[in-house]
Amino acid sequence: MAKKEISLGVNIDHAATLRQVRGNTTSYPDLLSLVKKIKSGGGRQITIHLREDRRHIQDADVINLCKKSPLPINLEMAVSREMMTIALKNKPAWVCFVPEKREELTTEGGLNVVKVFSEIREMTDILSKKKIRTSYFIEPSLEQVEASAAAGADAIEFHTGHWVLSKGAAKKKIWKQMVAAAELAAERNLRVHAGHGLDYEHCKFIRKLPHLVEVNIGHSIICYSLELGIAKATKEIIRHLK
Ligand code: PXP
Repeated sequence: MAKKEISLGVNIDHAATLRQVRGNTTSYPDLLSLVKKIKSGGGRQITIHLREDRRHIQDADVINLCKKSPLPINLEMAVSREMMTIALKNKPAWVCFVPEKREELTTEGGLNVVKVFSEIREMTDILSKKKIRTSYFIEPSLEQVEASAAAGADAIEFHTGHWVLSKGAAKKKIWKQMVAAAELAAERNLRVHAGHGLDYEHCKFIRKLPHLVEVNIGHSIICYSLELGIAKATKEIIRHLK
């Protein structure tokens, strides 16, 4: 049997972070130009998180990328009316519902689907009528997978952050939970996605997760890009100085 290919979604939030630390006053980085390069590198989708505090991706980015991106857009967003209005206006290919706290450095845990069940079910139904597919960013727990299936999600994305940061027996325990949750998701016809904190090393393991069809990776790719590109960028600046 042919080996399944895991589709890569590239999260470009931190490219926008670099732009926003200069208050969006620079012509770089140009997100659309990065998207084109990601496509040429084999990325299959672009993931962006429009946060309530707009710390990286801006409303104008959502509009521009949903209109012009040559790759499908996966819009990560909180379970909120404000975000629903934006999603319905811009029609990304996917909406990924994530939990959100203003003060967090990054998305620290999975969404509690049980807690927001009636809201998320209603939003999922509205989005699916507009042909926007939905995934829920959850911890790898059977309860969360069951709730996601019952609410009508097309996919679940396991928050891999705790697995990435844990070691030894704790890491093995989370892996087992992830395998069991992935098996249940497949039984419930949910696509299995994963993301958060993944780097080259983690990719060697996460690809062994049963039923995994997609990963979304951001921070490490942006950091690797600096390493891979800094000599070239330095040369370019020197050329402009001559
Ligand atoms: N998937 C989801 C749902 C996320 O919220 C994030 C982080 O914004 C990622 C994937 C990517 O995580 P990282 O930047 O750590 O690779």
